Amino acid sequence: MGKRARLPTLMESRPFPIMLNTPHITDFPRTGSPEEQLRFLLRYAILAPSSHNSQPWLWQIEGDEVTLRADFKRAMPNLDPNHRELIMSCGAALQHLCLAIRAFGYAALVHTLPDRSQPDLLARVRLSAPRPATANDELLFRFITKRHTHRGHFEDKPLPCELLNALQQQCEFEGAALHFAQTSEDRDSIVGLVERGDLIQNRDPGSRRDIADWIAPTENRPDGIPASALGLGDLMGHIAPLAQRYLDRGEVIAARDKKIASNAPVLAVLSTSEDTPQGWLAAGQALGRLLLRARAEGVWASFFSQPIQVNEPWFQLRHMTGVHHFPQLVFRLGYADPVAATPRRSVDEVTTVVPIGEPIEA
Ligand SMILES: Cc1cc2nc3c(=O)[nH]c(=O)nc-3n(C[C@H](O)[C@H](O)[C@H](O)COP(=O)(O)O)c2cc1C
Repeated sequence: MGKRARLPTLMESRPFPIMLNTPHITDFPRTGSPEEQLRFLLRYAILAPSSHNSQPWLWQIEGDEVTLRADFKRAMPNLDPNHRELIMSCGAALQHLCLAIRAFGYAALVHTLPDRSQPDLLARVRLSAPRPATANDELLFRFITKRHTHRGHFEDKPLPCELLNALQQQCEFEGAALHFAQTSEDRDSIVGLVERGDLIQNRDPGSRRDIADWIAPTENRPDGIPASALGLGDLMGHIAPLAQRYLDRGEVIAARDKKIASNAPVLAVLSTSEDTPQGWLAAGQALGRLLLRARAEGVWASFFSQPIQVNEPWFQLRHMTGVHHFPQLVFRLGYADPVAATPRRSVDEVTTVVPIGEPIEA
């Protein structure tokens, strides 16, 4: 096989001015109140991946229960009008929280979408009686602080079949399915749909605006994708959001993504049997699991949302998932050099505590 073109090197060792306040297991308040424990455990939840690092979650702690709400103020009206990705992001955060609860030796009693009259109310989680964690929970939990999105070069090295099977099992656990592009036709088809998505999306000023809004040119913003995580230096970091907002660079972006997708050791599509908030939450929970399982084997991932966000390629992706399943995310997997973490808003910024006995705000 010919040598693959090298993508721009990411500034791996470059620290972000807003540093991640990475939790450490020895800091768990073992003898603290459930509220203190949940506050600590949420530090793992907020490390979850989220669409454009929008971190669209709000948490409310009351005693031993924490409520997860979607923060629709952080929605992307043009890219994600139905909130598929927003709810998936919250699903991944929910998964991180539950893994952390179980890894510290408690049961997590989860009630998803408990009140359909409140569409932002995604889950209630109760910190429950002590229970030993499974080996799988412990394994996934250990990689929460080591998972980051990797948009750079992946080595030309196949992934073991056992790992691919294990990733599928993690998804099945949440009722989702993972499809790998097995044939060259499947690969070409996905690559073509990524390109098509880029071209259509970049013609639309509203979509370009949504993307531009979530590029963080300087590295002191606690949300958005830092320019350095996109492989951009300081100057380009300032130019990129402006270019994204005002110019149709679809051809350039499609060519770049075509190269990245074509060179990917593995291309995959995550799907669910329901295309509803329940399905999107499950897709996010499955995504949380599979990314951590991949990291446990040294494997990185990055995503291609364009063929999901644009209707025409989304319909065509269903030839891979089958007509009874709905595509939720396209991504690539592979081995690579490490990348740095991106910033997060603090737990305090996204959490309120209700004194026990007071009614929870609707
Ligand atoms: C539902 C979803 C869709 C995403 N789509 C893309 C994408 O199309 N392109 C991309 O580069 N990153 C995508 N990401 C990755 C986020 O940008 C990333 O999780 C976020 O910037 C936080 O960085 P981290 O994953 O390194 O912690 C997606 C993440 C989620 C959860």
